[in-house]
Formats: sequence, C-alpha cells, structure tokens
Amino acid sequence: MFRRLHKTLSPSHCWCALFALVLAIPLSSPAVGKSHTSPIVIAHRGASGYLPEHTLEAKALAYGMRADFIEQDLVLSKDGHLIVTHDIYLDGVTDVASRFPERVRDDGHFYAIDFTLEELKQLRVSETFASHLGLQVPKYPERFPLWKSSFQLSTFEEELELIQGLNKSLGYNTGIYPEIKKPAFHRREGLDISRKVLEVLKQYGYINSQQKVFLQCFDAEELQHIHATLMPELDMDLPLVQLIAESQWGEKRIKRDGKWVNYDYDWMRTEKGLERIAQYASGIGPWYPMLLDSSDGAPAVNELTRKAHALGLKVHPYTFRADAGQLPANVTSFDGLLALYINQVSVDGLFTDHPDKVRAYLQQRENTSRSTKVTPTNQAPEDNYPKD
Ligand code: G3P
Ligand code: CA
Repeated sequence: MFRRLHKTLSPSHCWCALFALVLAIPLSSPAVGKSHTSPIVIAHRGASGYLPEHTLEAKALAYGMRADFIEQDLVLSKDGHLIVTHDIYLDGVTDVASRFPERVRDDGHFYAIDFTLEELKQLRVSETFASHLGLQVPKYPERFPLWKSSFQLSTFEEELELIQGLNKSLGYNTGIYPEIKKPAFHRREGLDISRKVLEVLKQYGYINSQQKVFLQCFDAEELQHIHATLMPELDMDLPLVQLIAESQWGEKRIKRDGKWVNYDYDWMRTEKGLERIAQYASGIGPWYPMLLDSSDGAPAVNELTRKAHALGLKVHPYTFRADAGQLPANVTSFDGLLALYINQVSVDGLFTDHPDKVRAYLQQRENTSRSTKVTPTNQAPEDNYPKD
C-alpha cells in the first residue's frame, strides 16, 4: 500500500515547488517541444482507469481507445501458466480470501503461484481494493465499482489471441508490452518465468523488433540474462526495456550478509549506468518524477532523458493517471501534465491508465501543430506582396 501511494504521488519529492517552476515554461503550445514525433501510448494494465485492471474487457477497451501498445504484467501459476495480473499475490483484485481461505501464507498473502490455472479461473476479479479491518476500500473510489459485473483472470495466451484477433478484425496493428514480474521470486519457487515468457512470445510470432513488442522488467540482472543467454538460445532479439524503481519501494530484494535488503536502483540513473543499460536494452521505463530534478534550487527537466537519448535509449515513463488526487501538486490538469512530459521532457512514450485522454491530447496537439504551420494558403495577403 505504501509503495502504491508512493508511486502515485510522493510527498518526498517536493512536487509543489518542482512543478510550479517547471510549469512556468509555456506548455500549451506544441511548438515548444523539441520534437513533433508523437510518443507512443501504452495502455497501463489495459484501460485500467475505466475497467478492472488486466481483464480482457479492459484490454479490449484500451484497444478501442487506440492505444499503440497494451501492457501485460505476468506471473506464473503453480502449474506453469502465465497469468496476466500485476502482483505475485491475488489479494487486492480477486475474491481468493473468501474462496480459498486456507491457502493464505504466513505473511497474510495469497500467492498466484500456489494455485493451478483451473483454480485461478474460479476466482472473481474486481476493481483494485485494499483490505482494512475486514473492510474492502477501493484504491480509486471514482473508478469502476467493486465486485460489479463478472470478470476473470486470463492467461497470456488468451490476451495475445484477443489483441491479435482484433488486429485481424479491425485492421490496426496494436502492439504488446509484457512485463516479467519478480523473476528472482519465481526462480526461488523453482520456476523460470523469463524462459516461459519468451517461449510464448515466440509461439505467437513476437521474435524481434520487426513486431510491435517491448519486453520490460525491473530486474537488471534478469534482463542481462535474457539478452546474453535466453534470446540467443531461442533465436530471438526483442527490444528490452529496463524499468527503474526507487530503491526504497523494495521492488527487488536481495540477500546481503545473510540479510534481505532492498536492491539499489540508483546506478541506473548515472551516466555509467545508462551506458551499461544501453548494452542490453533499447529503452528505460522510469517513474515519471525521475525525469524532473532540482538543481541550485531551480527545479527543471533533468538530464536523464537527454542522456538516455544520446545513447539511443527510448524513454517510456510510468504511470500517467487522470483521477482526482493523482495529479502532482500545482499541475492543474491532466493535459498540463502530458504537455510537460511530451513537449518539455520529450518522452518517447508513456504508460497511462487513461489511453483515451492521452490519445485525445495528442490529436489536439497534432491539429494545433498543423493549423499553426505557415503555408501559402494561410499567409496574410500582404505577405505575398513583393517587398521594396
Ligand atoms: O511497467 C511499467 C509500470 O507498469 C511499472 O509499474 O508496478 O505498475 O508494473 P507497475
Ligand atoms: Ca507493469
């Protein structure tokens, strides 16, 4: 819970001052941007701002909203099936606690890896919630109501068939953006999730960068293993994206001197770290506040994006949410936030729970850009007169 809140809005980042100053730069005009290339719209867990995350329904809606890519977070079931869900445990999106109460682990969680696919298919999926003193509290109160309608967990294969099926029936070419969740945890449980993800991707025709696919992970050592060993073995060459976390989130835990500690992610944002990442990845996926900084008391767009671009790395930050209370302080609208990151930071893509809003913003930006271009037909008449 702490991590979730921290990832959505961090009090430690002095948003107030930071955004106030950065927003002093005019943002509304697309002409301000360094590039008119349109960033890619990545539907984060589907159109998760409107329907329960990672359900096939949320993916179909994201598809209809014309996301460029649709994200899949992946974990393994007990019998080795890839399940599309955000966490290794099921507590916050399913009725597992009431359906299989005896299967709780000592830490209070119900782990997907303790259930077969047949059992997972018995679960109902809901909009995300937290449990407090026996009560379920929606994480986003304005979103789809808890426990309404009927949703299920799905396998990676089911989702790929949905997207490929829509690509066929609608004629678009929407891409996929799978994330391998907690590969070290899966390995400790005796399963190799990365090999399984690659095998399924290959089976469905995703082999290299000619297909619309990015493969993401927070685990740098795993991505290096995929790059150096697994992909060559499977004759694949997919574009990899290194996700960057704040170390204190505990996204990856490692054993040091016999104690579990948080993995230190800070190296990834250094010059040398980016150079190292560029040897095995095609892009980085930072938390979006990481792209702004405060130097000499003057907050500004920092150097991370520019340095990544100089090394040929794409920059795809997460996660842009339009819900009330999810905007950083002093950003007054979702469009203002998009303008900042698209026109000032110059990101190459962004993860969003609201793909329709990002698509609408980009369309409006494109229209403005077109209408403000000076052409012989929209020049003022006197501009055509010969000058003395
Ligand atoms: O994968 C990009 C973004 O989704 C990372 O955060 O925790 O939502 O998977 P998370
Ligand atoms: Ca993800």
